[in-house]
Amino acid sequence: MLITEIYTPDKVALAAKELQLGELVAFPTETVYGLGADATNAQAVKRVYLAKGRPSDNPLIVTVCSREMVERYVEKLPTAAQKLMDAFWPGSLTIILPIKPDSLPDAVTGGLKTAAFRMPDNQTTLELIKEAGVPLVGPSANSSGKPSPTTAEHVFHDLEGKIKGIVDDGPTTVGVESTIVDLSTAVPTVLRPGAVTPEQISEILGCEVRSDKHHVGQAETPKAPGMKYKHYAPDAQVLIVNAAEWEEALAWAKAQTAKIGVMAFEPEVAKVSKLPENIAGYSLGTNVKSASSRLFSGLRTFDSQDYILCAGVAETGLGEAYMNRLKKAAGNVFFKEFSKNK
Ligand code: TXA
Ligand code: MG
Repeated sequence: MLITEIYTPDKVALAAKELQLGELVAFPTETVYGLGADATNAQAVKRVYLAKGRPSDNPLIVTVCSREMVERYVEKLPTAAQKLMDAFWPGSLTIILPIKPDSLPDAVTGGLKTAAFRMPDNQTTLELIKEAGVPLVGPSANSSGKPSPTTAEHVFHDLEGKIKGIVDDGPTTVGVESTIVDLSTAVPTVLRPGAVTPEQISEILGCEVRSDKHHVGQAETPKAPGMKYKHYAPDAQVLIVNAAEWEEALAWAKAQTAKIGVMAFEPEVAKVSKLPENIAGYSLGTNVKSASSRLFSGLRTFDSQDYILCAGVAETGLGEAYMNRLKKAAGNVFFKEFSKNK
């Protein structure tokens, strides 16, 4: 078993050395922590799948520190990609582009003729990649199927002994993974919702942008293969509670002997402290932004409860990304339907 080092941001040069040697080092981004390996080293990339316990037909994001780094792998950077990079990089938009044949290992692309490129908004990680001199694959640094990690502690919990180190730059800010847009198709298509919305992309490109809702969930041939697996799921049964149903939901909780975690907005969440001991509260803050940044951490906090009641929000803007992750964690079960069937 490896001893997993924690690197503070001033130690990125050491972490970069390990990456050059083919070791795995987790890194911070503004969305969630990523599990880094040299994207040009097929052996190193294969070990990422092993460490995560991730099916190996699922391609990985190529994390870069500059546009030039993307240019190494594409024939020509499309104008649309340049526009999106101008508008959103560094930031929470991953762009899928056709690549030069065999320019990246199959272990990265899953054998596809495209790759997903992302430049995260985190100075420490941009420095780490620059120092390593190569792009890093960067799937979320959780055990496959568990909620994505938003702190170095989450990464340590899941991957201790399996990876060389973790660059710790504190909690992430956005909290849900990047938006993925596919520019390899005739009409740009959002394959995964994130902080950058389809409307924002459409405005920059000046054209129609599709949202491929089809691949989200259990589609047979999903565009982003990662979307077909059960994701973000804690062991507890998660129930989504709509804003108007809290009174009913808390009354139900009170009648149970099971252990229940309540993830709610303020001031709702304060009511939980007056409930019996088997019910614990976790604040999602006051708005969709705070809720998104706290969602995964809350799901982890209540991982071993029997139930988690978690607030649903309107599926607009960032709310689309939040609900996409929450629905997966809940297996799409809403408190309303659940309580009807009881
Ligand atoms: O915010 C994020 O994007 C985080 C941080 C760490 O950067 N990373 C992340 O990576 O969420 P991951 O591997 O958990 O999710 C990448 C998704 C998967 O669903 C995968 O199937 C899809 O991107 N993907 C990667 N390459 C692709 C490609 N060439 N075509 C279609 N989908 C692709
Ligand atoms: Mg992931």
